[in-house]
Amino acid sequence: MPTSTSALPRLIALPKAEVHVHLEGTFEPALLERWATEAGQRLPRPRDQLLQFSGLTDFLAFLDWACGLANTPERLASLARAFSERLAADGTGYADLIVNPTHWSAWHGKLRGFIDALDAGFREAEQMGLPKVGLCVSLLRTQSADEAVELVDLLSAWRHPRVVALSVDGNEATAGRTGPRFAEAFRRAGQAGLKRTVHAGESSGPEGVRDAIELLQADRIDHGVRAIDDPSVVDLLVDKGIPLGVCPSSNLVLKVYPSLDAHPVERLRAAGVRLSLNTDDPSLLGTSLPGEYALCATHFGWGDDVLRALAQTSIAASFADTDTKARLQAQLASW
Ligand code: ADE
Ligand code: ZN
Repeated sequence: MPTSTSALPRLIALPKAEVHVHLEGTFEPALLERWATEAGQRLPRPRDQLLQFSGLTDFLAFLDWACGLANTPERLASLARAFSERLAADGTGYADLIVNPTHWSAWHGKLRGFIDALDAGFREAEQMGLPKVGLCVSLLRTQSADEAVELVDLLSAWRHPRVVALSVDGNEATAGRTGPRFAEAFRRAGQAGLKRTVHAGESSGPEGVRDAIELLQADRIDHGVRAIDDPSVVDLLVDKGIPLGVCPSSNLVLKVYPSLDAHPVERLRAAGVRLSLNTDDPSLLGTSLPGEYALCATHFGWGDDVLRALAQTSIAASFADTDTKARLQAQLASW
């Protein structure tokens, strides 16, 4: 992905949050190769093609393979610490991190141990002064209504302080229209005090974004870019002030749009939709948060005022605690 690198130091220094990033997308290829070798497994394809994805379906299958290698609490904690280190290196002051238990086969039926192991890594990182991280525990679009409610009931009974939100991700195109299927789970999540973030308008059209708002009461939408295909959905986003967590490089690599020229991020911004920039799956898709800002600034000719507004939205739209938000907004004011 071509990015302007000369602006990167200023964009690393830009105080910002990341609100749409998956732990599943943070594996470094060298680590995957090492863990695969230790497990006596072959890579799923030749090393030089390891990160070449034909689209979202292929990508999600790769996540199942990669996450399956993380089979000890120590490995989970090390992924958490590495994530926090990456945030600090990119000048990201806080992240809402999506984690989808369905991908992590060694942890099926052991949600508590899974979250505790990640939490241990994040706590250690925070004690070292690294940025805070909130977890958005995610359903997969292809799960059933019962599985969704079961997950939410577990999270609600447990109320782990690390868990800030319920999420749903995966392939909307494979699953078909699932807003009605997940409505009860999202209603219960809201009642339990969890925030709600919904992948929509990536592999679905604008109707998926409307369902996320009207059926799932989304506080935030991950991607949401295909809202552009229906002006009434764009109006709905603007009127309700629901922010989109947009991931331009992800949309190019996973073939949602063929080029940045075709990507609607600038049109959505100009229409008044609240937007933040994000990486989605940084290591596997070959991007970084400052890289996303640089890419868009260069391509769309965005100046500091636009970049500041995007960073401001990233902090405001995050599920961080009020002190963290206030601190980051104050830092941003003097950028
Ligand atoms: N899980 C990880 N990355 C994803 C994406 N881009 N869309 C849906 N689910 C995902
Ligand atoms: Zn995503």
